[in-house]
Amino acid sequence: MRKFKAISLFCGCGGADLGLIGGFNYLDQNYPDNPFKIIHASDINAKAVETYNLNFEHKASIQDIHELDISNLKADVIIGGFPCQPFSTVNPTKTPSKKSNQLFWEMARVINDVKPSIFVAENVQGFYRLNNGFYFKLACNEFEKIGYQIFHKLLDTSEYGVPQKRKRIFIVGVRNDIKSLFEFPNPTHGEDSCLAEKVKLSEIIKDLWPKEEKYFFSKRAVEGVKKAKNNMKRAVAQDINGQCLTITSHLAKVSLNSRDPVLLVSKEKELYRRFTPQEAASIQSFPLNFRFHGSEGDSYRQIGNAISPVLMWHLSKSILKILKKEK
Ligand SMILES: C[S@@+](CC[C@H](N)C(=O)[O-])C[C@H]1O[C@@H](n2cnc3c(N)ncnc32)[C@H](O)[C@@H]1O
Repeated sequence: MRKFKAISLFCGCGGADLGLIGGFNYLDQNYPDNPFKIIHASDINAKAVETYNLNFEHKASIQDIHELDISNLKADVIIGGFPCQPFSTVNPTKTPSKKSNQLFWEMARVINDVKPSIFVAENVQGFYRLNNGFYFKLACNEFEKIGYQIFHKLLDTSEYGVPQKRKRIFIVGVRNDIKSLFEFPNPTHGEDSCLAEKVKLSEIIKDLWPKEEKYFFSKRAVEGVKKAKNNMKRAVAQDINGQCLTITSHLAKVSLNSRDPVLLVSKEKELYRRFTPQEAASIQSFPLNFRFHGSEGDSYRQIGNAISPVLMWHLSKSILKILKKEK
């Protein structure tokens, strides 16, 4: 069977890549192979690239996109979740207005060099909403300028069989000479009677008591939060009968003085804990056999940065529809 060639920019640990190529199991469901072959993957972060290389046949390389020249490659699709920190609502310290923080320019440059039939760019909601969509429009204008028709949608991972509320903006570009319209995948899970019921966090958190004590917050941290003023941020204890708040890269430094999701293990004993890296990976829909390289902090960062593989698997079906029509 013919395989479509894919290029992965800002590949991180490979969440998006895994979803694109498929061939994994998650929560008793199989997500079969898709006809894609990755011909290039790169990221600036060495630890993420090592994780990637533990899990994929195609090996990624450590590269700064500013220096990346792959104009010699031919590909059908380019995917890339360009860095979101400057636009993230949980990290407002960076300056989004600095051009060097807006890596969609570099993504557009590479797309323009390779001219794939279709590309997918992903980012946080903040990128879509910040300054009335100023940065979002800037990116879309640039993608249009290089010859692509743009489609966009906020997709929520919890509507695709993953127990996590994670809304991300997806920008899809279809090359102007291809006349098909891109259709985002319909939700598979939700309140509608025709959809399956949303998956609950309890599918992953089978035991509130972790095997290792290090995941508990200290008594001091709990006391500190109790004494804190009402207007201070507090971690949010998750209802395991619902869907988890977004797993962010910030989980590497999760504290009780933030809006991060945590678990309340015992109300009487006032015991709170963080998610283990394995739990965070499962809430992001990584299969159990996906291996992470580096410290626990590195793992949390790679996991929080990733595009949920299951969501990307559904998107890859929509990408395939365009590519197959073109063929
Ligand atoms: C949102 S994450 C991408 C996650 C990935 N798509 C996944 O699904 O696992 C953004 C990535 O951009 C990488 N990055 C940041 N600056 C970069 C640069 N100048 N060149 C290449 N990669 C960069 C980060 O290391 C990070 O892995």
